Amino acid sequence: MIDSLDITIQKTENSKLKDFDPSNLKFGHTFSDHMFVADYKDGEWTDLRIIPFDDFSLSPANSALHYGQSIFEGMKAFKNQDGEILLFRPEMNAKRFNNSAERMCMAEVPEELFMNAIKQLLKVDEDWIPDTPGSSMYIRPFMFATDNFLGVRPSETYKFVVINSPSGPYYADPVRVKIETEFTRAAKGGTGSAKTAGNYAGSLYPAQKAKKEGFDQLIWTDGATHNFVEEAGTMNVMFLIDGKLRTTPLTSTILPGVTRDSVLQLAKHWDVPVEEAPVKVDEVIKAAKEGRLQDAFGVGTAATIAHIKEIGYEDQLYTLPDVEKREFSARLRDYLEDVKRGKIEDEHNWIT
Ligand code: COI
Repeated sequence: MIDSLDITIQKTENSKLKDFDPSNLKFGHTFSDHMFVADYKDGEWTDLRIIPFDDFSLSPANSALHYGQSIFEGMKAFKNQDGEILLFRPEMNAKRFNNSAERMCMAEVPEELFMNAIKQLLKVDEDWIPDTPGSSMYIRPFMFATDNFLGVRPSETYKFVVINSPSGPYYADPVRVKIETEFTRAAKGGTGSAKTAGNYAGSLYPAQKAKKEGFDQLIWTDGATHNFVEEAGTMNVMFLIDGKLRTTPLTSTILPGVTRDSVLQLAKHWDVPVEEAPVKVDEVIKAAKEGRLQDAFGVGTAATIAHIKEIGYEDQLYTLPDVEKREFSARLRDYLEDVKRGKIEDEHNWIT
């Protein structure tokens, strides 16, 4: 058991807290005063420490820079009315982090270390947890290779780091998405289900092209046929067609989202029919044309519930029902926001 006593804490002498304005936060721009760092060498995690947030010094031969052994997680913390710090299903992030580590041939981070690092850092930086509407403390645990070596092989040393970013919403408004049929995010047997840096790097060029066409995000399709919906890259995607909630099942090309899992549980609990099966692009488009696509939204930690207002596919734009009229996704968003902030009873035992 790794407990808090193993983590040394060096507090900053130059706190930026006095300049912190929680009233107008953007996503991922502001960072709290401290960070957690641990080093992996000779098969164990050493030198667990909370230190002032600062730059790293890296060798130009750092293997993560060359070959991309780099993984991360995204989580959010909130404060409830009594000032207690709440985390939403953090054990799922710890497990997914280690699944990503295994796929990328990196060291395991024991769950106690992962959890203790996050909890201790939040305590040290608790005054940075914003309480303005729509804001949260976005937590970014990540790990990268630190061997300085140009041969291609798994690194023998790693850094596990946690930083905190008091943030506003990832998508402030409903999004316009394009169904991507040329480029591919992930292939069967690839790294799509791991939260690894390269998956995001590979998505940038197609996403930038789509941005120039006026889209906020892509909906990726399968690499083999481009006939089936996959995910949006920063979130999983769901459709409400003829009253049924549809989403693609978890395969080697889909990131197993914590919000995805929570939404599916809620829908079942609320007696909304759920179908976790491959979703054909044609079906979505046909439903949109016939007015049967009642709702479509992305689900993710950063995004929570991101309403899709328009879908672009093969040079056609399909407009979805008014966001104000979409009861199901509004109910999901409100429920998730409220449970995460401790405003309603935690009936699913999701809160730590
Ligand atoms: C998250 O939802 O936490 C993510 O990691 C998505 C993104 C900001 C990369």
